[in-house]
Amino acid sequence: MYKRILDKLICPNTGVGDLKIYSVELSRQNKSERNLSGENIGSEDDIKAGILFTSDKKNVYVIHEYIPVLLNDADQDLPHLTSIATPLINQLPNDLADALQQTLNRVSAQHKSADGDWNREEMKYYDADVDTETQRHDMLKSIKTDNLWRLFIPRKQNMTKFLEKNCKGKWIFEIGCGNARTVSRIFNPAEYNYNYIGTDISFKRLMVAKMAIPGSDFIQASALNIPVKNNFFDAAISFGMLHHLPRPTDAFSEVDKKLKQDGIFTLHEPVYTTRQFSEKQTAMVRKLFRTYEHSDHDNKINLKETIDALNKLNYKIVTIVPYNSLFRVVYEAVMNRIYKPWHKNKGIMKTVLFLDNILLNTVVKLSNKLGPQAIVITSAKK
Ligand SMILES: C[S@@+](CC[C@H](N)C(=O)[O-])C[C@H]1O[C@@H](n2cnc3c(N)ncnc32)[C@H](O)[C@@H]1O
Repeated sequence: MYKRILDKLICPNTGVGDLKIYSVELSRQNKSERNLSGENIGSEDDIKAGILFTSDKKNVYVIHEYIPVLLNDADQDLPHLTSIATPLINQLPNDLADALQQTLNRVSAQHKSADGDWNREEMKYYDADVDTETQRHDMLKSIKTDNLWRLFIPRKQNMTKFLEKNCKGKWIFEIGCGNARTVSRIFNPAEYNYNYIGTDISFKRLMVAKMAIPGSDFIQASALNIPVKNNFFDAAISFGMLHHLPRPTDAFSEVDKKLKQDGIFTLHEPVYTTRQFSEKQTAMVRKLFRTYEHSDHDNKINLKETIDALNKLNYKIVTIVPYNSLFRVVYEAVMNRIYKPWHKNKGIMKTVLFLDNILLNTVVKLSNKLGPQAIVITSAKK
């Protein structure tokens, strides 16, 4: 993590800011420096290994491979935390080593909770296919080359294009960024000159994200407990992650706290509308026609609840665009079985989107059943 974000962070257990830092290894202008305490670390130094800690040293958080693990005790993944903290203990000054050991002892005594278990299942699922360095490099390669027009076109047209207009020097964060494939391809911070922080519950996906956008910061954090000061960010982005949460609308109030007065929140999610099939029928359709892999907590958000939550928090909907009729879902599933690379062609995907848009506004509307399956919403605080 770059030292420049230190004063923006808060302790996820207490919510208190003013975290301290100690670096065991950092990168300074591509050179490695070892064992530096806070005042000797420059704002553009990128800390590879070290710790963050509260003034009283009661809460210590590990930085590993440039990524701070800023989870509260209940969300910590104890085996992972132990595996990265243990080698650090031998390299820290004695008082900090003791403090880290005490945090570890406390976490191992009390890291159980229903939400924590849910989050750990997500970590496990999303960590699994990037567990090794080779897997992470393979994923990085696919991020750089795969043209996911199915996702990129709607996200560009109705989300990032809106943010691009006025983003120079602003602070934008993403919840559930995973490997940050969308931002790295269509809204790269280096190209658009804004400050980006990606957060996700899966540590190993974040390792890929850090390789994809090395000049930015990534924090292992839950979308339900974002360890950043309130009223700080100009905008928040979420691509297909809210539907992985036990209570998606809880994330809205958490994101809202972190956004400035005129903040923007933009999201792309699969949805239930009141007009659609029952949850059971939808689950069956998804099982039959699913076109990509998802964790067990893959659900859909409820459109009415989402709009109500945004209204309650005083957000004005800037755009709300429906995507994916059931026809398209079936078409894509069939095409994926016949000729997988079809979706890499931007022209074909644009045509599919265009035709589907006509369907969504005619047959689908009349049928009262067949869609939309997904929605893009961009909203701004009033
Ligand atoms: C379907 S993936 C989407 C990833 C990414 N946004 C994209 O478009 O490729 C869902 C992501 O949500 C993350 N996630 C699940 N629960 C989370 C939580 N409580 N807080 C933050 N991220 C979470 C997963 O680790 C995963 O990376």
